[in-house]
Formats: sequence, C-alpha cells, structure tokens
Amino acid sequence: MEAIKVGIAGTGFSAMAHLEALRRIPGVKVCGIAASSLEKGEKVAKEMNIPKAYASWEELVQDPEIQAIHNCTPNVLHYKINRAVLEAGKHLLSEKPLAVDSGQSAELIRLAAESEAVSGVCFNYRHYPMVSQMKEMLQTGEPGRVHHVIGGYMQDWLLFDTDYSWRLDTDMNGPSRAVADIGSHWCDTVQHVLNKRITQVMADLQTVHPVRYRPKGSVETFAGSGGQKDTEPFAVSTEDYGSVLIHLEDGVRGVFTVSQVAAGRKNRLSLEISAEFSSMAWDQENPNTLWVGKRETASEDWSTDPALLLPKSAAMTHYPGGHQEGWPDGLKNLFIDFYAKVEDRSRKSSFATLEDGHRIVKLVEAILRSHREQRWVRVEE
Ligand SMILES: NC(=O)c1ccc[n+]([C@@H]2O[C@H](COP(=O)([O-])OP(=O)(O)OC[C@H]3O[C@@H](n4cnc5c(N)ncnc54)[C@H](O)[C@@H]3O)[C@@H](O)[C@H]2O)c1
Repeated sequence: MEAIKVGIAGTGFSAMAHLEALRRIPGVKVCGIAASSLEKGEKVAKEMNIPKAYASWEELVQDPEIQAIHNCTPNVLHYKINRAVLEAGKHLLSEKPLAVDSGQSAELIRLAAESEAVSGVCFNYRHYPMVSQMKEMLQTGEPGRVHHVIGGYMQDWLLFDTDYSWRLDTDMNGPSRAVADIGSHWCDTVQHVLNKRITQVMADLQTVHPVRYRPKGSVETFAGSGGQKDTEPFAVSTEDYGSVLIHLEDGVRGVFTVSQVAAGRKNRLSLEISAEFSSMAWDQENPNTLWVGKRETASEDWSTDPALLLPKSAAMTHYPGGHQEGWPDGLKNLFIDFYAKVEDRSRKSSFATLEDGHRIVKLVEAILRSHREQRWVRVEE
C-alpha cells in the first residue's frame, strides 16, 4: 500500500515532535513543510531530510500531492489553516487549541462534518498506556462509582518576567494562556478517562507578571530569553496561574490547578481519581507508574508491562516492562490511531475529534467568564 503523504505547517517544538513521531509509524511519509518564510522552511527541510519546503502554508495546503496536514503553528493561525485544509478535503490533525474562540471552532466542526476526510485535535495525553489503563480499569466497574477527581498541570518555563514566548502575546495566542494551553490538556484527559463531560466551572485566575520583558527578536517555545539584555517591557493580560472547581456529569466533583510559574515543575500533568472502592493516580513526569489506592488491602504501584495491562493499554505499549516510554510515544500512539482511521473509517478510534476540540474551546471560555464574573458558569451557557 502506498504511504499517505503528510505535510507539516510550522517548524518549532511541536512540528519537530510531530515529524519525529510520524517517522516512527508505518504507512505515512512526511513530504513537505511550511514555516513562516521559505528560507526557514528550506533550512529545516534540508536539515531534516524533508523533500519539499513551501513559501507559505497556503502553498502546502494547495499541493495536490499532500493528503494530510499537521497544523503545528501558533494558535492564531489554527482557524485559518484548519479551515483551508478542511475545504481542500484533506485529512487534518490540528494542534490544540482547535481555534481561539468558539465561533471559529463551531465553523470548523461544520466544515469537518461536510468532509470525507479524517480530522482530529492533538490532545496527546489520552494516548499514554497508563492513562488508557485508568480508563479501562474504570470500564471494568471494579473501582465503582467515581466520587471526585483532583490534579493539575504545572510548569516553570515562564517563571521569570524575562521569559518570553509568542504565547504571552494575546494577538498570537488568544484570550487564555495557562488554562487554554495546559489546562485544556488536563480537562481533555479527565473527560476522556472518565467518559464524562465537565458541565460547570468556578474559576480563580491570576497573572503573576502583569509586566514582562521581551527580547527584541523572535524566540521559539521553551527557549526563554536566553539571558538576552536587549529587552523591552510589555503588558500581559493572560493568566500565569488558575484554580478551577468543576462539576462533571453524574454528580462527579473535581478541582484542578494550572501554573506556568511553578519552579521545578517542568511538565507535571497529574490526576487522581477517587471512586467507591479504590483510587488511581498518575503523573506525566513519572508516566510508567500508576498508583492504585485501596483502603482494606495494600495499595499498589502498577508499571507499564504489556503482559499485565488491559488490552487497549497493552497495545499502546511498544516494549516489554521495564523499558521506559513517555511523551514522544504518546504522540506516536495518537498518530497510529489517527492514520488507522484514515485507512479504515469504520474503526473505533480514541483520538480527540474536532467536536471534542470545540467543546474544550467552550470550556475555556466558560472558565474565563467564571473568573471575570466570579460565579459558577455552565459550559453550555
Ligand atoms: N500537544 C502538545 O502537547 C503541544 C505541545 C507544544 C505545543 N503545542 C501546540 O503547538 C502549536 C505550536 O507551538 P510550539 O510550541 O511548537 O511553538 P513554536 O514557537 O516552537 O513554533 C511555532 C512555529 O510556527 C511557525 N510559524 C509561524 N508563523 C507561521 C506561518 N505563517 N506559516 C507556517 N509556520 C509558521 C514558526 O516558524 C515556528 O516554527 C501551538 O498551538 C501549541 O498549543 C502542543
């Protein structure tokens, strides 16, 4: 069978992670890349051995050879590029957020419904074996009815007021930062594992650094200001921190905290589910361990051993027990799931759809509104 020809929009952190993971799955070939300029695209294409570089993302979308596009550009471009890909009838895997507001994301789900192609949003934490194991364990019914879920997503890459990224610029990023950027991952993961939607939110957000110092010149994600002295002050309106009380379907309660200014925490997405007979806790920085908490017997630490995990979770594990798998492998699992759907539309897949992405955009809007109005807000309001 001929490989599906894939193009990538963007050349930064997420684009390079997509490229690497795509090269580790069968049946696809990365044939082209578009950056913010032809010169930059050509440089990356040469370094990474990608056959074509384009002068713009529009050229990438129009290339008849390209069948699927991964959109790894800054948030403000997501709607425009996603829309063009859907209108061209090509497969779309969009980085989160699907769009910067729910008017845009609603339009995208309408276009996706009219297209024959497969489309999805890159909520990659669903695709870790131990996250899947939590979901499968809950499905067995053994843990019983879920009482509550707690957790958060903590990072420190924007700790100092001299740390800079386009994410701090509302025009490039959209109206929410810590919540939309990392809280969205937590919410998607929890909704997926519990198979329940978040219905209401009560939020408290904070901008720890209302003024930051930006280097004169462009900076890629996670690069910091690199000690650059030539900086200028600018006002920041998006949140560095947020805590959100949540109600989910079937009376489940929860709470999560997000921060991009938590020293020492690099990428700590954690969640703990407490149910009638047991609890389960998982932390992305220690991804191959799942704690199962018990009251009347000893609690257990499970490790990622495909011989012991439930079937779907075992299938997401590519090496025997004791061989560590992590963030790049979750992304690889997502792409395996996505391209299996491209090959067989009748397949039941687990990646986030555009509908899921749209609901997350609405959820983020509800969180912003709750903070602004200091009250509980229903996600459908
Ligand atoms: N799923 C995840 O875990 C995850 C992780 C990181 C980033 N992301 C998402 O990926 C997206 C990109 O983030 P990043 O961290 O890679 O940022 P980045 O700054 O590292 O890279 C952004 C890239 O977009 C390119 N770009 C800018 N304008 C462009 C244009 N007009 N045409 C083509 N390319 C253009 C830039 O050249 C740059 O290479 C964001 O939406 C972010 O939310 C998701």
